[in-house]
Amino acid sequence: MKLTEIHVFKSLDSLTDLGMRWLIKKTNEKDSVSVALSGGTTPLVLFDRLRYKDWSKVQLDRLKLFWVDERCVDPNHPESNFGNAFKTLFEHIPIPEKNLFRIEGENDPIAESERYASILGKELPMKEGFPQFDLILLGLGNDGHTASIFPGNERLFECEQWCVATEHPLTGQKRITLTGSLINRAKGIAFMVTGASKSCLIAEMAVPHRWNRYPADHVDPHHGYRKWLLDQEAGSLILRHL
Ligand code: 6PG
Repeated sequence: MKLTEIHVFKSLDSLTDLGMRWLIKKTNEKDSVSVALSGGTTPLVLFDRLRYKDWSKVQLDRLKLFWVDERCVDPNHPESNFGNAFKTLFEHIPIPEKNLFRIEGENDPIAESERYASILGKELPMKEGFPQFDLILLGLGNDGHTASIFPGNERLFECEQWCVATEHPLTGQKRITLTGSLINRAKGIAFMVTGASKSCLIAEMAVPHRWNRYPADHVDPHHGYRKWLLDQEAGSLILRHL
């Protein structure tokens, strides 16, 4: 997969400022804006900065937030994607709680994946038989996974389901994840990747090649845009080629 649009930011604040400008623009243009957030540590570094930004121009009542995936733990568990996002950002800004659509990791995984799929079907417009997000923010694991779509599970980019129960291949931790089929129907997809540990993977993925080596290579929106938002460290090996 060729990386369509790569932005390397001089600072995390310049990246979060871009995010704020997008939110202000979109929530003043549309009466409903849907964003799916990934978990892991990268978003928390950005949320910690977003917490102190001026949210007064964002129409928060129009912003609906969902999660790309969740660990099957209680929301108060230290590994909960929702719990960490809520503590780091969302309990500090005036977004209505009804606009936060968390995956209930404490529930039975299969039942919850079905419940969440029905929520998506109710809350989002449809595209090619899938709920369509305005924007999906993805992370990149060191093994090239994204969402909770791990190596060997690339079939989730061709399946009919919207949301499935899965598990981490090394820890066996049960997960619930949006499928790649749904992800690829989004209007916009942005990978947010920071840190030197991802620089080799980014460099490897930036080289156009004949096959998709990693799950993240399969992220290829059918109609929308795909951007890579990198910090200097993650983008260090490709900077000279930009
Ligand atoms: C999760 C994420 C996962 C994450 C990547 C990158 O629940 O862990 O959704 O896909 O985005 O593993 O994680 P880091 O940001 O911690 O490197």
